[in-house]
Amino acid sequence: MEEREPTLSIGDNNLELPMVPALQGYSGIDVSTLRGSQGVVTYDPGFANTASAQSAITYVDGAAGTLTHRGYAIEELANSCSFLEVAYLLLFGNLPNKMELEQWQDSMKRHSLLNEELKRFFNAFPKRAHPMAILSSATNAISTFYEEYHDPHDEDAIVESAQRLLAKMPTIAAWSYKKSTGFPYIYPQNNLTYVENFLHMMFALPTEEYHVDPVITKALNVLLILHADHGQNCSTATVRFVGSSQANLFASVAAGMNALWGPLHGGANQKVIEMLSDIVNDPTATTESYIARAKDKNDSFRLMGFGHRVYTNYDPRARILKKFADDVLDRVKGDDPLLKVAEELEQAALSDEYFASRNLYPNVDFYSGIIFRALGFPIRMFTVLFAIGRLPGWIANWKEMNEDPATRIARPRQVYIGETSRQFVPLHQR
Ligand code: CMC
Repeated sequence: MEEREPTLSIGDNNLELPMVPALQGYSGIDVSTLRGSQGVVTYDPGFANTASAQSAITYVDGAAGTLTHRGYAIEELANSCSFLEVAYLLLFGNLPNKMELEQWQDSMKRHSLLNEELKRFFNAFPKRAHPMAILSSATNAISTFYEEYHDPHDEDAIVESAQRLLAKMPTIAAWSYKKSTGFPYIYPQNNLTYVENFLHMMFALPTEEYHVDPVITKALNVLLILHADHGQNCSTATVRFVGSSQANLFASVAAGMNALWGPLHGGANQKVIEMLSDIVNDPTATTESYIARAKDKNDSFRLMGFGHRVYTNYDPRARILKKFADDVLDRVKGDDPLLKVAEELEQAALSDEYFASRNLYPNVDFYSGIIFRALGFPIRMFTVLFAIGRLPGWIANWKEMNEDPATRIARPRQVYIGETSRQFVPLHQR
């Protein structure tokens, strides 16, 4: 039977609206002609019910609690791939063969150095600067060295700028941390892998030899893969939004980083650890009192690391991380009192009617911080680690948007509710 187009009735008008069919999940209703034909616009705060793009990169099934990239289950990618393989998959649509992977890894090594002029840039920040601010500023700043790659419709320029951004991100991230410690910046080394290199630049000192721990490398590789992409989340939508004005890749990604920094998005991993530490360090605090605060509508406190716009089921990334946390702690650190409190909080929340009725489960940020901590990362670097992980997703979405002939500059409408016509009063009479 032929599927009928949906009909919208406004007053006496019946308007047929075209469907935009999805291969998985919700199909869309194309409302782009609504204003012109009916004189109304759609209203959807937070775009909770609005598809802003057709995308073939990532599919999140919120009800089932599953996540796939280019059709591959996240569990399989996290188990079997390197982060660079997943980055290649997101950007180019297929997993690389051996030769493609070697070339891809080589290109990362070739471009991992930062221009020496940028050192002065890092030095200009105050020591207490949050590394996320340095990260996004430096990402914007490196656009000044690559103006020849700014054209978003030049295929070669897109690949060149994507490679440079991916290759330099671990260096920028590690240097943003070194800045806060006052220790010398450590240069990338071409005998190390992408993840090893980052760990080396983060933790090595010029005065002694540093051996990258394979357990830590493996764990960080999995963590980066788990953050690699997640559909039209706030930062990715920001990258697309900014990029829709034909802003270059560096500028668009820098904007996405600023969106990620917020505590409701990637900044949540830092907030989770602060929350768990508060519970552990305050003898009067209990998991029950924190659950009660999260439920209290007169208290702005939220249980950090809980809830998600898309998942009405357990976040598959959190499921992997929860298991992984035990394993990593066993191998590198032994016990962490924060893990015990996190598990207690999760138990208490999952058996509470408030959280159950709103489908609030742990999200990726609930357990990731405990693992980052066990791996030796300072808490203010957690969102930076999320950003390194999410970078391939941002680039892939920016690239897909620029390749899509349907792309137009993002320019939403508004429903105006302000003053209408007012009599102007000159300054001396006000
Ligand atoms: N603690 C207490 N109540 C919550 C929480 C929470 N963490 N999350 C949602 N709720 C309640 C919310 O108050 C609302 O209740 P009611 O229906 O009575 O008004 C209901 O659940 C729906 O919440 P919402 O704010 O309308 O949902 P949203 O889709 O707009 O927000 C969210 C999603 C992730 C911002 C939100 O769940 C939240 O603030 N969580 C805490 C921050 C966090 O962990 N962020 C990381 C998100 S996952 C990774 C990432 O994107 O970076």
